[in-house]
Amino acid sequence: MLYERILVTGANGLLGTELIGLLGRHPEYDVLATGRSETSRSEGSHGYMPLDITAKRDARQAIRDFQPTVVINCAAMTDVDRCETDREACWKVNVDAVETLARQCKDIGARLIQLSTDFVFDGLDGPYHEDARPNPVNFYGKSKQAAENAVRKAGFGKWAIVRTVLVYGAASRANRSDFVLWLLERLSAGQSVRIVTDQWRNPTCVTDLAEGVERLVQRRRGGVFHLSGAEWMSMYDFAQTIAETFGLDAGLIQPVDSATFRQTAERPAKTGLIILKAQTELDYRPRPLRERLRKIGRP
Ligand SMILES: NC(=O)c1ccc[n+]([C@@H]2O[C@H](COP(=O)([O-])OP(=O)(O)OC[C@H]3O[C@@H](n4cnc5c(N)ncnc54)[C@H](OP(=O)(O)O)[C@@H]3O)[C@@H](O)[C@H]2O)c1
Repeated sequence: MLYERILVTGANGLLGTELIGLLGRHPEYDVLATGRSETSRSEGSHGYMPLDITAKRDARQAIRDFQPTVVINCAAMTDVDRCETDREACWKVNVDAVETLARQCKDIGARLIQLSTDFVFDGLDGPYHEDARPNPVNFYGKSKQAAENAVRKAGFGKWAIVRTVLVYGAASRANRSDFVLWLLERLSAGQSVRIVTDQWRNPTCVTDLAEGVERLVQRRRGGVFHLSGAEWMSMYDFAQTIAETFGLDAGLIQPVDSATFRQTAERPAKTGLIILKAQTELDYRPRPLRERLRKIGRP
């Protein structure tokens, strides 16, 4: 067993909460969760301290004090429309803070695992391999691409970039909802919804994503990895599958195309990720979508 001291940022988010629960069950990991709130929302054995990663001095100090062997950066501004309108705040969290973390990791010899997104791609010819050329269509995607570059350019070899896509499976204690919970609430209330047929993704259960990240820690792998669900489908088909799995009225879901919506930030059409590298090198095995959905409690 290899002992690791792991500092996680953004620990109260969708991925962070799941990841802390998973890492905390491993006796070989000493885990420090950090987030903007005063207290931790996660279960399992871990320490917690409040940390806003944009406060550079605090971020540097936290890393210096804890002396992690691995930092996992789950903190980000993830509201795609807000990133478009509040660009300065987005850049501060999604890019500037990542530069600080990378520099500090380099200084103390820690590894950095940086979370990234399918939105670095333009969605014209997905799903994508790790070495496909990024070409983001919105500011969120641009900021995440810049964060990837900041990690690569920091001048140390000990980094990994994990791109993921359309994550669901939020625990009730996490500080946010997700597409599945949102849809279940609407359909359970008998409300109709309009869902796009021309945006394609791989829905990713947060449990699978956390397990993939843990494998990266355990196997000490570096480079870019795509970690997502294995099934690639339109948002409309995803919604249909959710309704069927939960015995809800799929007739309430109306198929539309993206032109129907006027969203602040453009969404890439067909993204999605090819996970062959993670399957081969990490033995990453995401469970089938319906199996994962069945484990989610109805809100
Ligand atoms: N969810 C998806 O579908 C998806 C898809 C592709 C990629 N990703 C990537 O996966 C990573 C994790 O995303 P997620 O789904 O877990 O997002 P999330 O639920 O929105 O969590 C992000 C966390 O970051 C925290 N945060 C924001 N600004 C911060 C700051 N200045 N200092 C410290 N913490 C800060 C938030 O804190 P508060 O709780 O205080 O708001 C939140 O807990 C992100 O890098 C995201 O870009 C997610």
